[in-house]
Amino acid sequence: MCGIIGYAGSRSCAGIIYEGLRKLEYRGYDSAGLALVGNGGVSTIRAVGNLESLGKELRRNGHPDASTGLGHTRWATHGRPSVENAHPHSDCSGKIAIVLNGIIENYADLKESLEGAGHRFTSETDAEVIAHLVELHYQGDLLQAVHRTCDDIEGHFAFCVVHDDHPGSIAGARRECPLLIGIGKGEHFVASAIPAFLTETRDVIEVGNDEFFLLTPDTAQVFDADLEPLEREVTRVQWSEDAAEKGGYETFMRKEIFEQPQALADTLAGRLPEDGDVVLEEMDISDTELAAVDKVYVLACGTSYHAGLVGRYVIERWARVPVELDIASEFRYRDPVITPTTLVIGISQSGETADTLVAMRQAREMGAKVLAITNIMGSQATRDADGVIYTRAGLEIGVAATKTHLAQIACMQLLALKLAQLKGTLPPGEVAAVAAELRSVPGLLERYLKSEAAAHDIARRYFEKPFFLYLGRGIGLPVCLEGALKLKEISYIPTEAYAAGEMKHGPIALLEKGSPVVVVATDGRVYEKVLSNIQEVRAREAAVIAVATEGNKAIRDFSDEVMYVPATSEMLSPLLAVVPLQLLAYYIARLKGCNVAQPRNLAKTVTVE
Ligand code: G6P
Repeated sequence: MCGIIGYAGSRSCAGIIYEGLRKLEYRGYDSAGLALVGNGGVSTIRAVGNLESLGKELRRNGHPDASTGLGHTRWATHGRPSVENAHPHSDCSGKIAIVLNGIIENYADLKESLEGAGHRFTSETDAEVIAHLVELHYQGDLLQAVHRTCDDIEGHFAFCVVHDDHPGSIAGARRECPLLIGIGKGEHFVASAIPAFLTETRDVIEVGNDEFFLLTPDTAQVFDADLEPLEREVTRVQWSEDAAEKGGYETFMRKEIFEQPQALADTLAGRLPEDGDVVLEEMDISDTELAAVDKVYVLACGTSYHAGLVGRYVIERWARVPVELDIASEFRYRDPVITPTTLVIGISQSGETADTLVAMRQAREMGAKVLAITNIMGSQATRDADGVIYTRAGLEIGVAATKTHLAQIACMQLLALKLAQLKGTLPPGEVAAVAAELRSVPGLLERYLKSEAAAHDIARRYFEKPFFLYLGRGIGLPVCLEGALKLKEISYIPTEAYAAGEMKHGPIALLEKGSPVVVVATDGRVYEKVLSNIQEVRAREAAVIAVATEGNKAIRDFSDEVMYVPATSEMLSPLLAVVPLQLLAYYIARLKGCNVAQPRNLAKTVTVE
């Protein structure tokens, strides 16, 4: 969370940095700011709220002469959103400006001693200590000052610094949080994520963990922990530019919902050969090791956790391996039982979520083989793992995850099939049948999305309701958990998701006449049981909104509303059943006038524990 960008070149840079921030806004949007190095020294412009407020400030004074600068979009950790707490932060002299992504854990002690030495602080942030430390350590060499600063600070961070004495330079460092350099002609960029500069350049080098960098218009140098220069290969990024544009859709979330057939097809491509083995290419875990796995442990947060839950049903059904799950932030504070034959799977769209990374590392230290399922090439999760299964969903910008979720489920299904093959728990004919069916799902989804109007109509009838209950059983349970999360995060309507059979032990007390109850009632071994639960809901005169399998006419007699999805076998059903719930949440949020693109208090990438 928090997005940072820097530019060192010869063009007037305020607009370039502002455009970069637009691409990073998904990382935080409670305030934003720029530091511009021009004829008059270092100027900072900061504003509370999303980028539009900053845009207004910039229109008043865009410092056209500045050709070096930094930008930041904030997700508040230390200190409420305010102009004073917005980045960039300056030192006492105003000659230095910094932007930070991450957390400086020992900032309180550092601040106390810096104040004792006469430094004046103007914000409540942890970040400001960096500006003062650079000031303290600066003796003419900016990179050296950054290096000494890193000796003082603890935590995980990426930061960039400009100094009035070095008008064309940006220096910085990273520990854990990502930092990428974009190579242009006579200009360089640095940012938390590639989309920030993708319209300007596709040539990228990475600043590695515990490394430093120095940019000028003509040079981009990366240094190791002892400030020895490093040779870095330039990677050419293939992402399409419009991945970071809405392409005619009203929001990224809507665009990404409709990109799901492609995301799924890409994630499956080449991994399910017609009659061969399941291919998982980036696996440094041998087939022998996989075949010996006797327990799977999934670690994840948010929507990724729900994909892990789907994985539990699939792995246990097909590969007959017990699966345990933990919310990553809980894992490290328990005493988890991990052995060398435990396969730990960290699922993280961003590959950056601090809680998931810490949990994965801990599991590895305990001797487990660790597999990452992530959407981001080269992200930290990929480095902390023995193997990677990439979701190939393409760039996802919507804060509420959709297409990456579907791709994560597909990856769990691929892994389950692979384990089943290696363990011989599914006959080859059945593996081939599942593989063939999986390959057909993108087409089914495409068809579904062409006739998704039911979700919109239902949203119109229910969007003013104050509470939604979601019920599901078996593999339908993670689907309803995800549906309920989507609705609460973008519409702010309180929701509860429950195992349908457990409803009678509590949530049934919440039901009254007309209460909307969304029930995942797709075909499968628990369908009849779900119908009984629907009857219990109806007996309380609540309104049942069912997600059911096409062709199930009988469900109409039991439900007030039905959203039909194409038929699949039970273990594949979440790939279709979750989509109407995404759409329902989306339409309700829009009807309520909520800002779907920037849900209150949320960020897409959560790099704090
Ligand atoms: C945040 C995002 C969610 C995401 C979760 C985990 O809460 O808003 O959409 O599911 O983080 O993120 P990860 O990148 O680890 O999947």
